[in-house]
Amino acid sequence: MSQPAAIHLADYQAPAWRVLDTRLTFDLAPSATRVTTVLTLEANPDAAVGSDATPPLVLNGEHLTLESVRVDGRALASDEYKLDETHLTLAGLPANCELETVVVIDPAANTALEGLYVSSGMFCTQCEAEGFRRITYYPDRPDVMSVFTTTIIADKDSYPILLSNGNPIERGEREGGRHFVTWQDPHPKPCYLFALVAGDLVKHDDSFTTMSGRDVALEIWVEPENLDKTQHAMNSLKASMKWDEEVYGREYDLDIFMIVAVNDFNMGAMENKGLNIFNSACVLANPDTTTDAAFQRVEGVVAHEYFHNWSGNRVTCRDWFQLSLKEGFTVYRDQTFSADMNSAPVKRIEDVAMLRTAQFAEDAGPTAHPVRPASYIEISNFYTLTIYEKGSEVVRMVANLLGEEAFRRGSDLYFARNDGSAATIEDFISAMSEASGRDFSQFMRWYSQAGTPNIAASGTFDAQAGTYSLTLRQSTPPSPGQAEKLPLVIPVRMGLVGADGSDLTLTLDGEALGTEIVLELTEAEQTFVFTGLAGDAEPVPSLLRGFSAPVKLAFDYSREQLAFLMQHDSDGFNRWDAGQRLAMAALEDLMAAWQRGEQEAQLDERLLAAYRFLLQSEASDRAVLAEMLTLPSEAYIAEQQSVVDVDAIHWARKTAKAQLASALRDDFVALYHANAQQGDYAPTFEQMARRSLKNAALSYLMSIEDEEGMRLSQAQLAAAHNMTDVRAALTMLVHSSRTDLGDPALKSFAERWSHDPLVMDQWFSIQVTRPQADVLDRVRFLMEHPAFSLTNPNKVRALIGAFAGQNRVNFHRLDGEGYRLLADVVIELNRLNPEIAARIITPLTRYKRFDAKRQDLMKAELERIRGEKLSNNLYEVVEKALA
Ligand code: PHE
Ligand code: ZN
Repeated sequence: MSQPAAIHLADYQAPAWRVLDTRLTFDLAPSATRVTTVLTLEANPDAAVGSDATPPLVLNGEHLTLESVRVDGRALASDEYKLDETHLTLAGLPANCELETVVVIDPAANTALEGLYVSSGMFCTQCEAEGFRRITYYPDRPDVMSVFTTTIIADKDSYPILLSNGNPIERGEREGGRHFVTWQDPHPKPCYLFALVAGDLVKHDDSFTTMSGRDVALEIWVEPENLDKTQHAMNSLKASMKWDEEVYGREYDLDIFMIVAVNDFNMGAMENKGLNIFNSACVLANPDTTTDAAFQRVEGVVAHEYFHNWSGNRVTCRDWFQLSLKEGFTVYRDQTFSADMNSAPVKRIEDVAMLRTAQFAEDAGPTAHPVRPASYIEISNFYTLTIYEKGSEVVRMVANLLGEEAFRRGSDLYFARNDGSAATIEDFISAMSEASGRDFSQFMRWYSQAGTPNIAASGTFDAQAGTYSLTLRQSTPPSPGQAEKLPLVIPVRMGLVGADGSDLTLTLDGEALGTEIVLELTEAEQTFVFTGLAGDAEPVPSLLRGFSAPVKLAFDYSREQLAFLMQHDSDGFNRWDAGQRLAMAALEDLMAAWQRGEQEAQLDERLLAAYRFLLQSEASDRAVLAEMLTLPSEAYIAEQQSVVDVDAIHWARKTAKAQLASALRDDFVALYHANAQQGDYAPTFEQMARRSLKNAALSYLMSIEDEEGMRLSQAQLAAAHNMTDVRAALTMLVHSSRTDLGDPALKSFAERWSHDPLVMDQWFSIQVTRPQADVLDRVRFLMEHPAFSLTNPNKVRALIGAFAGQNRVNFHRLDGEGYRLLADVVIELNRLNPEIAARIITPLTRYKRFDAKRQDLMKAELERIRGEKLSNNLYEVVEKALA
């Protein structure tokens, strides 16, 4: 078999043909759906080849059975076109013509969940990035934009509801109990935004009046049993529509906006024009079944997909290398929206914590790539944390460098200038540049260089002269294919905190600039000398406030300085970060002790004192306090180590938590009770903050299996009427040594919830993240459970993903059984769902971070996978990992 070839950004060429109009007719049946496609084509004058003859028309098409081809009404003989596994090619066409193809596809056999497939008895589609080619022959690339008219014909009893993009323009009956609906979408779009749904669904109806006074019908379509789980998504949708009008001046542009919940879905959701399709996990929410974190995820994902209507659909991407143009910008938009709706500091802390663990790990691993990659083999492998989250950080830096007003002018200009077309990242940045007069040429390196930049910061205080000199040195480590890196533009928001805890005035080059400024680091090394500090004691620098750039910043803080910043920094994010740094230092002591074989090591008193301070000071912001009381995760600790020592990390974190719990036991009990009482459940952030604080307190008590904690957990499990409290209590019991309590609780939970797949996902995750050493048997056992299925991505993530990603000590067992289990699953998924296979394998590809023994074991499993006949998805990931 020939190796799949890489596609390069540098090879981009405008399409040779345009599609002026697309008319689709679907005659739906699960195993044989007939798709008739009529395209009005025009040879692209911009891509003229120089002669009079038109260029060949090359259409993508995979897994299709071609029945007929007609040009301008004439049926072609099979020698009049060229057909292979992936393309239909026609030569010598008139410059303007109409092409009709008829194909048959098999949605029921489609376990890859790309193109048209069947999920829980309904038909649905997923076309981004390259799924449309599994539906019909088409130029499947985002810079070919067309208006679509779609007729869906199906059995009326089984599929009473037939949906597609745009507005319904006709409906009627057909023979044999069939009916049809025709939809028309007036907005030209690339085929990746096409969608179709057919099923027995019910809707939650509402409406929204736009800023210009138009009424938009809002519809959330679900299976009947889920109708009581749609209110939160509807609220989130209306809030998003309003927010986008107010903050970006963006109004919705069709008469109807629909969301459909689907059980089998590879990703979170999809922004198809006027017909968003959602993984049910990202749209359904109800207090009985859904945790606070999932409520927030629903709000964020609904907003994200809605915001794509402008950042993605009205202005789309020229090619898939520009993916972050829509994703990075849209993530930035949804993050700011969620910050406005909830606690802004907590949202920032959560986003940064995720970036610093998962995205930084990706940026340091074998599949590291720039925010705009230069090449790819399989585009589905590039829906990554780098494209999304780092891409969002890059847009955030632009927004912060410009300030609110200029950023809004820039975004208005970007939308106005590129509306209805397929744009590039340069189009976005040049609008920002013109609106602000700022030169972004060096800044563009953020899009082309992979790897997380390091900043080494150091400061010297001269009491006599009253100066504080801050030196910042930047460097970016090499990444695959990029040995040398150039200096970036790094905005460092900072202040100097005086001995009394307040920010000092910052004077640079004789100019007083206020108490907080943004230093722009543009060279490999720069020194900034702050003057006018005579008479002050040595200040403590507070650097990278609000996480002003996606970098790793090192400064040689003493633990006293960290404890000081943790109490006094005026920036909420940096107070949290100082606490994390102090905790890291204490954890490092413990890990070193463990490695020396000392299991009696004591936790640094200064961390204990800092926690005591937190617990005893008036909680001004409960949500932030809950974050501050959370020790760095095992994944984050691992990121800080040169060679990851899984066992030391696990032991150190457990020990630190237990010692904090023992020393502050009464405070945690008090904290629990202070936040326990509340009225009816509401997904408000005030209530969420109380619940997270209460459950954080309980988890400390449970870390020492405190008797009162045990009692509180059981009582909470029995009494709670919301999944946040139920799940927290159940998890703590199941993760404790008391299987006599955990096992019956799991059993009755399963009996109560076996009918609800999203709750059963949680039931799987809770069990496979148990720290106990026998968990691997449990994982194997659960894979045979009737509620588990390898063809449902949510189940794979809940069971296999949670085990391999979160249960670090057990996944990295020294007998290699954790690795073997994952590799077995990857090999099966390679056949069933290549996209999910290529994602779930991630922990194995990071082997270089571990000791030699584990490296060998992981590599052996990767080699075993390489011995299979691999999908392009897995081929690309495995080859890069083993390179
Ligand atoms: N474009 C979707 C989003 O981020 C993600 C997605 C990609 C969904 C590919 C499905 C397939 O909103
Ligand atoms: Zn998106």
